[in-house]
Amino acid sequence: VLRLLTAGESHGPEIVAIVEGLPAGVQIEPESIDRDLARRQGGYGRGARSTKIERDRAHVVGGLSGDRTTGAPVALRIENRDFANQPATPPPLLAPRPGHADLAGRLKYGIEDFRIIRERASARETAARVAAGALAKEFLRPFGTRLGSFVVQIDGVAASVGSGSTGAEGVAIGRLAARELHRLSKAAEHDPVRCPDPSASARMREAIDRARAEGDTVGGRFCVFATGVPPGLGSYVQWDRRLDGRVAQAICSIHAVKGVEIGPALDVATMPGTKAQDPIEWRDGAIARRANMAGGLEGGITNGQPLLVRAAMKPLSSVRTRTPSVDVRTGEPLDAPYVRSDVCAVPAAAVVGEAMIAWVLAEAVLDRFGGDRMDAILAAFATVSNGPSTARREAAAGREGP
Ligand SMILES: Cc1cc2nc3c(=O)[nH]c(=O)nc-3n(C[C@H](O)[C@H](O)[C@H](O)COP(=O)(O)O)c2cc1C
Repeated sequence: VLRLLTAGESHGPEIVAIVEGLPAGVQIEPESIDRDLARRQGGYGRGARSTKIERDRAHVVGGLSGDRTTGAPVALRIENRDFANQPATPPPLLAPRPGHADLAGRLKYGIEDFRIIRERASARETAARVAAGALAKEFLRPFGTRLGSFVVQIDGVAASVGSGSTGAEGVAIGRLAARELHRLSKAAEHDPVRCPDPSASARMREAIDRARAEGDTVGGRFCVFATGVPPGLGSYVQWDRRLDGRVAQAICSIHAVKGVEIGPALDVATMPGTKAQDPIEWRDGAIARRANMAGGLEGGITNGQPLLVRAAMKPLSSVRTRTPSVDVRTGEPLDAPYVRSDVCAVPAAAVVGEAMIAWVLAEAVLDRFGGDRMDAILAAFATVSNGPSTARREAAAGREGP
């Protein structure tokens, strides 16, 4: 069983991750973790903390021998540079901020000072997830699984994706082959808002600038995908083994993410069944699919097609304009404090989304081919993926996408 525990406060000395259950023998490229940490910190619209203060680096303090996992828990520490800027005894925060964990956290834990709640509820914790996700990506690499992401909307500005795409964006994405998805992700990598459509990107940045000038924030949507996904992960036999449910939980667990779609779910909800199918064909001696409206999951099981997930992030709750609240001791009106904030974190959330999908897939691969050592797991995988049956050929064909 693969497990991730994170610990640490946003302005404490460090964020910590413990990854338990990675088999022995996973090759970890030394730069891979820091590269993803840097990707999470980027994106037009981030606040000073991400852009000026923190320079996240993971210090691996257990579980690796050279560049290989040993089977022991992998322990990672990420320093919070902003810790040095904190006052020794910061004043308590007494007015809860709407949209944050402040009030609900107090109702649950009975903690008077909202600062204490904020410290652990903060999305700074996603640095630990991204570090763990980088390990999951390295685990998935020998299976041929690759992940990517791109932003499809910020505020009211939607990107145009898919060659000459007309109509619904989700359907256009569902028609893309694996290499086209990776082309979009690669283009997004060089874009300030992780958007592969340059003209939309410019308008998205204008929307962010406008929000910043008005003391406001913006949300948006992003797409995360995985190609080369081994077929047969997850199961229809029990509700909690359906991979669609596990994907949704993992994505919705990201701070401020309030919606998740597998494939073009909201688009196909408005289409007749005849148009929303992925017809099965025989092409070049193998089963192939004409589209990927199912987003790579049928019956809660990966079907060998790219896994397609889109998520909606709310506009961030910390706005620079007045936020009416109350002093919880007296009930008197008191504005909630403005805490230095991002204007937009959708590009960063996309990178966190990659980490979460990598994590869920790594868990599912271990469920299916599990073992203590990478060579044994790959041998088990090879017996399924190299055989002659139709299902195996379907998998081989489907993995390229429609
Ligand atoms: C990468 C990332 C950065 C975030 N940065 C901020 C921020 O600067 N200001 C803010 O108000 N919310 C930010 N959030 C969202 C809050 O953490 C989140 O809204 C809050 O913890 C309450 O959780 P909920 O929205 O999921 O209910 C960020 C989220 C992510 C994923």
